[in-house]
Amino acid sequence: MNQRFAIAILAAGKGTRLKSKHPKVLHSIAGRPLLAHVVHAASQVVAPENIFAIIGHEADRVREAVAPLGIGFVLQAQQNGTGHAMMIVREALRDFDHVLVLSGDVPLIRTETIARLREFHLDRNAAMTILTAEPEYPSGYGRILRKGGSDEVQAIVEQKALKPGQENLREINSGIYAFDVRKLYAHIDELTSDNPHHEFYLTDIASILCTAGEKVFAIPAEDSHEVLGANTRSQLAELDALLRMRKAHELMESGVTIFRPETCVIDADVKVGPDTIIEPFVQLLGRTHVGADSRIRSYSVITDSTIGPGVTILNGVIMEESHIEHGAVLGPYSRLRPGSHIGEHAKLGNFVETKKTRLGRGSKINHLSYVGDTEVGENVNIGAGTITCNYDGVAKHKTIIEDGSFIGSDTTLVAPVKVGKGAYIGAASCITRDVPEDSLAIARGQQVVKEGWAREKREQRKKAHPSR
Ligand code: UD1
Ligand code: CA
Repeated sequence: MNQRFAIAILAAGKGTRLKSKHPKVLHSIAGRPLLAHVVHAASQVVAPENIFAIIGHEADRVREAVAPLGIGFVLQAQQNGTGHAMMIVREALRDFDHVLVLSGDVPLIRTETIARLREFHLDRNAAMTILTAEPEYPSGYGRILRKGGSDEVQAIVEQKALKPGQENLREINSGIYAFDVRKLYAHIDELTSDNPHHEFYLTDIASILCTAGEKVFAIPAEDSHEVLGANTRSQLAELDALLRMRKAHELMESGVTIFRPETCVIDADVKVGPDTIIEPFVQLLGRTHVGADSRIRSYSVITDSTIGPGVTILNGVIMEESHIEHGAVLGPYSRLRPGSHIGEHAKLGNFVETKKTRLGRGSKINHLSYVGDTEVGENVNIGAGTITCNYDGVAKHKTIIEDGSFIGSDTTLVAPVKVGKGAYIGAASCITRDVPEDSLAIARGQQVVKEGWAREKREQRKKAHPSR
């Protein structure tokens, strides 16, 4: 018989232990909110329309953050515990046979593990199946009380309710479960809030089902790291490091070289092509895509950009929302602000800042320049210290520099202004009017030379102060 599975993700809690004004499940690791990691893993097990996030604390913000992933939401206006959350989602689960319950703050869970839990649960015809683990430090988690040495469970005992002798129980409750929907809701009203927090604990349902003669099983996760919870800032840091290491290994498996991967910060959604080399202390963030055969040297921080293939990024390049074409060379120490588009084999050197600027194929801005709101054609050379004056205090204006032109060092280009094809601009010019094709423009004070002036000055000084 075809069994209809839903997934419920518990995400209504505040996350008091983070001491934050932001809801817990919106804290990010590896560049994605905790809840988004869980939704990603869940959407590969069931269709997004069969996933329900239970939201409550800052519900609007949480909903907005993950709504693009296409899942449904159920509001738990008052957060009276994980058991109460499952009472709230009852109606949404009406047409399903089973529900997998995930936790919005257990983000490393993998699709394969959720699928394995589902298969085991169906196989055993269980009322409830609990995903468990034996982490190094079990403190803080609910513990599993098995029936003898079997794979059946008698109860989940919360940390605070552990009786003397039970501290040694090493197997923890991951907060991830599979339930037979009908059996869960036949007994859910037996939960009480008879505990120090006056909450309805979903964990109590294990002993309730067991006492009612239903089957409750536990299945250990293959990797205990996968079920670690993110309740504190330290745990967030730990999970972030684990996830980024997982990401680095995935990239290395696919043919990317990463030196000292433990020093690199690579977000979950980043893509990198084979034979690209990533040096220590590189950050690749957001939706950055790097093509094959590129090299990214140390201390570069690249966000939401598309690069390569065959691009060289030297040390200390800071880049955001930019597009770099094949064979370009950037840095060291270039800053590319949003809307920078660097053409094939173009070069951007040290201390060069660009913004909303297109640099054509083979063009160069090698040293100490600011180029913003500018279209630069092909094979243009922009000399050291060139500045586009794009802002008049009220509005931004465009500069156009056409193919093959040569901009002398220390030029200021007061926008709106256009330099025609093949034109030359003398060094230190302040260009305020358009420069026609193939012409030379010079706009600076004329040089004056006074022969012998310095010698005369020296001699006058000697006469006045002979001892100096
Ligand atoms: C819970 C389990 C514990 C388990 C641990 C694993 C209970 C009582 N305890 O403890 O056995 O070892 O997870 O990580 O379930 N939430 C709601 N509505 C609420 C309360 C919580 O949606 O009213 C959500 C939270 O946002 C969170 C999840 O449920 O995503 C778990 O809640 P949390 O308070 O973190 O439970 P733990 O103390 O970690
Ligand atoms: Ca938790």
